[in-house]
Amino acid sequence: MRIAVFISGNGSNLQAIIDAVHNKWLDVTISGVISNKADAYGLVRAEKAGIATAVFAGKKVTTFEKLALEQLETWQVDCVVLAGFMRVLTPAFIDNFAGIMINIHPSLLPKYKGLDTHQRAIDAGEAYHGCSVHFVTAELDAGKIIAQNMLHIHPEDTAASLAERVHTLEHALLPRVLGWLADQRFYIAHDTLHLDQFPLKKPLCFFELSFV
Ligand code: GRF
Repeated sequence: MRIAVFISGNGSNLQAIIDAVHNKWLDVTISGVISNKADAYGLVRAEKAGIATAVFAGKKVTTFEKLALEQLETWQVDCVVLAGFMRVLTPAFIDNFAGIMINIHPSLLPKYKGLDTHQRAIDAGEAYHGCSVHFVTAELDAGKIIAQNMLHIHPEDTAASLAERVHTLEHALLPRVLGWLADQRFYIAHDTLHLDQFPLKKPLCFFELSFV
């Protein structure tokens, strides 16, 4: 499976994918990284790993999408991964990637779509929080959820400590989901998620899946 990763910033999730590929437990080809920010640190991570990059910064969204589409066609990707990509894409663009575009979001969707998820979870007195990997559809953070990785919120947690803890869970989850997609263990058929040919009623849910 050939993938492209869209980023806007630090790119630690991109790094988790790069590491998984380098350590040979994730069998995908990272064809390239697209950023809408010229100073995204994820671009440095990609370049260090010898991965092609494309920066389309300071453009209106339709221009960004036209350039991104051309680039993805050149790279011939099978799957697009939004990993910390902080720009809302148009339905017309997303329609090109139905069932092959995924996003990692820092909450247990459908709770806390959008921004500032950690503080909102604390303010609501949630006992649990985490991250979700889902298919991308025209509606923001609302596509079918593939898998989630959750944790207990501790009384002493702040938005910053939660962000750090959730990031660790993201790094364990996202490369694994990519592996299942690459192996075609996970797919949508008849509008239903399937794992190993069985329809799934609910997303896969892990509790503090992480690795030392
Ligand atoms: C992650 O928390 C991800 O869930 C959200 O943006 C953040 C990106 O972090 N969509 P990084 O750039 O991968 O470090």
